[in-house]
Amino acid sequence: MKNSPNQIVITKPDDWHLHIRDGEIMKAVLPASYRWARRAIIMPNLLSPVVTCEDARSYLSRIKACIEKTVDFEPMLTLYLTEETKAEDLVLGFREKIIKAVKLYPAGATTNSHNGVKNITKIYPILAAMSEEGIPLLIHGEVTDPYVDVFDREAVFIDKILVPMRVEYPELNIVMEHITTKQSVDYILGENSNLAATITPHHLILNRNVIFEGGIRPHYYCLPVLKREIHRQALVDVVTKGHKKFFLGTDSAPHIDDAKIDKCGCAGIFNSPFTMEILAQFFDNHNALENLENFTSLNGAEFYKLPYNKEKLSLIKSDEMIHMPEVLETKKGPITIFNPNMQIFWQIEN
Ligand code: DOR
Ligand code: ZN
Repeated sequence: MKNSPNQIVITKPDDWHLHIRDGEIMKAVLPASYRWARRAIIMPNLLSPVVTCEDARSYLSRIKACIEKTVDFEPMLTLYLTEETKAEDLVLGFREKIIKAVKLYPAGATTNSHNGVKNITKIYPILAAMSEEGIPLLIHGEVTDPYVDVFDREAVFIDKILVPMRVEYPELNIVMEHITTKQSVDYILGENSNLAATITPHHLILNRNVIFEGGIRPHYYCLPVLKREIHRQALVDVVTKGHKKFFLGTDSAPHIDDAKIDKCGCAGIFNSPFTMEILAQFFDNHNALENLENFTSLNGAEFYKLPYNKEKLSLIKSDEMIHMPEVLETKKGPITIFNPNMQIFWQIEN
């Protein structure tokens, strides 16, 4: 990493948690990611989810068809775990390098998760096979019990689901995806190296107040929902210190505006277009630019036991604020781009 007050050159980043959808939306949103990321873990919660190795193979070829040959971007697929998942299928997909990991959605936890897991012990045999084979389990860690407060669902998930699961499978590599709470940070810090977490730019930068600022703000609604300031501070603390077990997963989750601004609006924040500009500014604001690269480019690769990217990304700071467009136009309609509510002076140098 090269560092001067107005320029920083880092190893090219990766996005360890990304939704690109399918069809026209995928075509429209993919360039926003490969502009700055070299690899991305692609989420499997399509309308018809990626549940088998065959689904993954077909999704991978649709993704590749959207990426020009000259673009150096590696999509790494995940399989959507259901109570019907076959261990043999998943192990084969991993060995043949079709999938990189497996995603656990508790049924009903978020967008397109109705096919997810209702009874966690039903998938224990699958977890045994994954543990044996070294296949990472990526977890949307929220319970769905309607009697558990929506702001407590992540913490309750740790106690009720994750702790017992890790007693059973201590060797299983687990990423707690898009963590939002101090409880998650503390839990991860106290555990062994098999456990890590992704953190999104929006959970790092905003607390839950922004959802209700002067009215209801659907473009700040995501799951897990933004939390209290004390939780945000816990995330900021580990990330700005460059702690090895925490890395960037944007959870960039595009929905066309009509689907967000509805009587029952979708959860998801589309942040991939300016992820790096926003993060550089965030680290700069915390006098922690020396740890930007750990978070965006090194820690995740280490956890997944992958080489660092050879390519570099250069960011420069100008005297003038950069202008970020409000929406990305697509053939299906506009998608509002994440507004971090702060002034940005950093930009990617082309
Ligand atoms: O806000 C979210 N949106 N959280 C998720 O877990 C899923 C995502 C989506 O797919 O829209
Ligand atoms: Zn997600």
